[in-house]
Amino acid sequence: MRIGSILENQAFEKRISVTPEIVKKYTSLGFEILLSENYGLHLGIKDEQYIELGAKISKDEIEVLNSSDIIVQLGILTDDKISNIRENQTLIGVLNPYENREKLQSLAKKKINLFSLELLPRITRAQSMDILSSQANLAGYKAVIESFANFEKAIPMMMTAAGTVPAAKVLVVGAGVAGLQAIATAKRMGAIVFATDVRMASKEQVESLGGKFLSVEGSENLETEGGYAKEASDDFKKKQEELLSETLKKIDIVICTALIPGKKAPLIIKENMVNNMQAGSVIYDLAAIQGGNTAFTEVDKIVVNNGVRIMGESNILNKLPISASSLYAKNLFNFVDNLFDKENKKININLEDEIIEKTLIK
Ligand code: NAI
Repeated sequence: MRIGSILENQAFEKRISVTPEIVKKYTSLGFEILLSENYGLHLGIKDEQYIELGAKISKDEIEVLNSSDIIVQLGILTDDKISNIRENQTLIGVLNPYENREKLQSLAKKKINLFSLELLPRITRAQSMDILSSQANLAGYKAVIESFANFEKAIPMMMTAAGTVPAAKVLVVGAGVAGLQAIATAKRMGAIVFATDVRMASKEQVESLGGKFLSVEGSENLETEGGYAKEASDDFKKKQEELLSETLKKIDIVICTALIPGKKAPLIIKENMVNNMQAGSVIYDLAAIQGGNTAFTEVDKIVVNNGVRIMGESNILNKLPISASSLYAKNLFNFVDNLFDKENKKININLEDEIIEKTLIK
């Protein structure tokens, strides 16, 4: 059995799916690894490092795609590349099934096994494969670092002979995986942290990290069975707006992370709310690529409105691709390990396994 991977489009994606560390794990399961030339060079990993660990390198990307039983990638491959994948081959990645539905279904009809890791169920057994958690965790951390770097005041309280510098006040909107890491990071750097979420269950988690939870009446009903947020009613949105409008007047930095799976990100911070914030404040919108949580968010731009800087990037993980790849590659390996029938040395698409059934594109 062969696992292959080709270099992603460097304009959008710096992460990789196979790190040297993970090559050993695949080979110990009996897999052969084939990668395209200079696969990890942009991250400081030379081809020789992979070769020393037993992987093979090919100058020909099409050969990698043609000859691998399992292809592991980040995003979906471009049409010219994906056309090289045939019946019974398997492609695993972050295939964005909500946007690429038709394309993926037509590939599935050709009997290509496609697994999209965003669809993993949030169950205990899937935690080691959970790319949404591993990547969101890093994104939450980095959003705090980026916003603090753009804030022109100090973060922690400092008592000096020349006077006291007050601690910065941070608001985290959406206390899921990214939001909780943002709270922890901002607290560690000395900020005073507030957070809000439509899921009441997150209150305890926010408080255990030292954050103050801002509850909106009605939050207790807005969680799905899978632990995700439901879309809020107009009445709820009005109450949330009133609460946040007042709070934002005193906030220095906002980290937005609010998402509803498969839908456009909710618009939470409206124009008038930004207009009432203090000049010099910073908003980092992690939901930018899904439409943004603020009225001013523009992808890969810093928009300045009334002295407030609003920032959001298409892929913040490109700013820490080594850490992100390390976790992503481990998540992928754990997924393949679960998919692989070790006795018969073949992929076992066991639809009774919830992890396989939910991630397989049908
Ligand atoms: P996500 O990325 O879909 O959303 C981020 C956060 O935004 C969520 O907490 C959501 O409730 C919140 N949100 C949505 N709309 C909002 C609004 N209008 N205002 C304020 N907040 C809003 O969620 P994520 O981070 O992927 O986590 C989803 C759930 O999955 C959580 O309950 C988490 O605890 C659970 N989880 C379970 C795992 C497991 O057991 N394997 C692993 C990771 C997460």
